[in-house]
Amino acid sequence: MLAEAVDPVGVLVRLFTLGDPVPAVAAGAALPTLGVDRAVGLGLLQRCGSGQVRACVDLQPHAVVDDLGESSWWVCSDLGELAHGGGVLPTEHVLGVGTASTTLVEAVVPPVAGQRCLDVGAGSGVQSLHLSRTGPRLVATDVSGRASAFARVTAALNGVALDVRTGSLFDAVPGERFDRVVANLPFVVTPRRADVPTYTYRDAGLAGDDVVHRMLVSAPAHLRSGGLAQFLGNWEDRADEPWTDRVGGWVEEAAAALAEATDGADVLDVWVVQRELADPALYAEAWISDGGRPGREEAESWYRAWLDDFADRGVEAVGFGIVTLRRRPADPATPPLRRLDDERAVIPGAWRDVLAAGLTGHDSLGRVGALTDLDALLDTRPVLAAGVVERRELDPGQPDPRTVHLVDTRRRGRVVEASTALAGLVGACDGELSVGQVVAALATLLEDDEAALRARLLPAVRDLVAEGLLVLPGQG
Ligand SMILES: C[S@@+](CC[C@H](N)C(=O)[O-])C[C@H]1O[C@@H](n2cnc3c(N)ncnc32)[C@H](O)[C@@H]1O
Repeated sequence: MLAEAVDPVGVLVRLFTLGDPVPAVAAGAALPTLGVDRAVGLGLLQRCGSGQVRACVDLQPHAVVDDLGESSWWVCSDLGELAHGGGVLPTEHVLGVGTASTTLVEAVVPPVAGQRCLDVGAGSGVQSLHLSRTGPRLVATDVSGRASAFARVTAALNGVALDVRTGSLFDAVPGERFDRVVANLPFVVTPRRADVPTYTYRDAGLAGDDVVHRMLVSAPAHLRSGGLAQFLGNWEDRADEPWTDRVGGWVEEAAAALAEATDGADVLDVWVVQRELADPALYAEAWISDGGRPGREEAESWYRAWLDDFADRGVEAVGFGIVTLRRRPADPATPPLRRLDDERAVIPGAWRDVLAAGLTGHDSLGRVGALTDLDALLDTRPVLAAGVVERRELDPGQPDPRTVHLVDTRRRGRVVEASTALAGLVGACDGELSVGQVVAALATLLEDDEAALRARLLPAVRDLVAEGLLVLPGQG
């Protein structure tokens, strides 16, 4: 039984995962190098009478296996709810690795060795650990001194060089610029009422969804040319202002500020993906129970506060998503990317590929001139992206398909209905023939007018490149 375990692993799980007290002798045997006295001195353990010790912090193994290989670390944070013993968590609680942490990890386009990266709101330091895999130089900031200390411990435990600074958003990095900025922001929309607790780990203390607005307008100044900022956010979908208008307005504000600051030399590409849309009541319930188990009266009062706050601003739903910003030099052939998409179908682990493919697709369309003149596609020789398959549905016994779909297997359910001509064109995209040659051949084969076929197919080819289903060789 785990509760009785005296082997080193069992003792460590009892201590750090379950939060149980264990005999100091057993803890000493499980930590033979550190020893109990030093662990107590470091604030990792505390003595709790009758020769027992208990953990003061959470220490969790954390591992990943993906295209970059295999990595594993130890992440240090405050004790989780289970080990904390129920009740309401302290407001300065420093969170361990959660689902939002993993969502951001899976969306971040990895930096390359030597680049400068910034982890805003570092908390336990988990984003920095993931960034460290490709060997960049790392800076982390957090408004909380306690969280900053945890980020330092996590980095030290894993031998990761991390320059941790305490300050709000970009306050601790004035004038500094980075190739990557990542932030699992404290984005929870929380009513500003004295009796509703404000947890630093999930709430930046700003009104409504203002933390996303602030991040959007302040991040571009801290990006190097070609640099990406990627962060999670919640935003309000209001009766008089749908989320696309609301977030879209912030995007235009951020882009205008960058243009002004650089005299038009740099532009901002923006891609906002809304992954979920939550009903206000369910949103309030979820966040009330997230901080532990409040008493019934307290919970009801907080619930009312949340609903009143949403009602005051006409909030009909709360969106959750990923914002990707890229700063780059202005180029007349490549207008700034502006996408605000509802996209719920990306499979776990594929976000970074989908986002990177979309950015690369936009660049390659600009490079060949197809963002300003569709005919520029005629001389290109696209290839089909890995993971794209064709799905046909046939009436039983019939030789010709009723429907043909191109399916991007990275995005569950993301299908493009393809006409016979488009399916034929995509099928011929092997990098040898140009789009113009394929269209001419299809016009003959299908006895169609070549100019009319071209007019129908070129927008579809552009969209497939923009979505990363077709790739223009040499792009980047
Ligand atoms: C949701 S936690 C994310 C922790 C960690 N990066 C992760 O991905 O799991 C948000 C972090 O932001 C910090 N934070 C809150 N307000 C902040 C602010 N204004 N500026 C910077 N960090 C802030 C909190 O202390 C907390 O550590």
